[in-house]
Amino acid sequence: MKFLIILALMFATILGDSTIDITYANVPLLDGRIVGGSPVTIEDCPYQVSVQLLGSHRCGGAIISDRYVITAAHCFTIWPASWHTIRAGSSFHNSGGQVVGVNAIYNHPNFNRANLDFDISILHLSSPLSFGPAAAPIPLPTQNQYYSDDTPAVVSGWGALIENGTAPLQLQAVWVPIVNNVRCGALYEVEEYDVTDSMLCAGYMSGGRDACQGDSGGPLVINGQLIGIVSWGEGCARANFPGVYASVSYSRSFITDITGI
Ligand code: ARG
Repeated sequence: MKFLIILALMFATILGDSTIDITYANVPLLDGRIVGGSPVTIEDCPYQVSVQLLGSHRCGGAIISDRYVITAAHCFTIWPASWHTIRAGSSFHNSGGQVVGVNAIYNHPNFNRANLDFDISILHLSSPLSFGPAAAPIPLPTQNQYYSDDTPAVVSGWGALIENGTAPLQLQAVWVPIVNNVRCGALYEVEEYDVTDSMLCAGYMSGGRDACQGDSGGPLVINGQLIGIVSWGEGCARANFPGVYASVSYSRSFITDITGI
């Protein structure tokens, strides 16, 4: 009997129907997904893309024009641009939508791999995306735009549903409130991590909702504007450790320099 249940769980996992939430039946869950979010369709977040290395999902990203995607700089190491593709216009990272090549990767010139300062990168696509209800660019904030504490923001991605957990095939999203940099920096001081001016934070002090591994590079959105890029955090969705994002506003001039946008 136990064997049959395990077999059924395996099949459900392989089929990847994320509306059947039994993949994590063995984990005591809050209410599971991205961490603590829900499955969404790409039409809910048409700016979301999957950034892929040799055809496998690696990071999230956001469409800012038909030729440019914004993502996180730490997503790229030694592999050439030509080994990367992006999948746009699909709720599933492994099927559907449009798959487009990457011509060039522009990491922020001040990106620091040691502390993830300026963790922002621009991908130039090898052919233009076609826009529609499932694929569309997201507007950017101006420079020096700030958000007050508790402003609700939405983060989305195909990353792990729980710390050290596995990742879903269907896109997930969750609301998280903005936490100011002074407060966020004080929380991370105990870990001796710096929250720099190029970063911003969002999350609940009680934990439970957050981005996680595989969401990196993905969009944090307020009022239809791309304000943050998933960058790092202490574990995922832990109490008193908000998610940390690269601030798009703070690196706004870099985006203009590369793209003219
Ligand atoms: N660095 C992770 C990635 O590469 C994202 C971590 C985000 N973590 C968090 N707790 N918000 O996918």
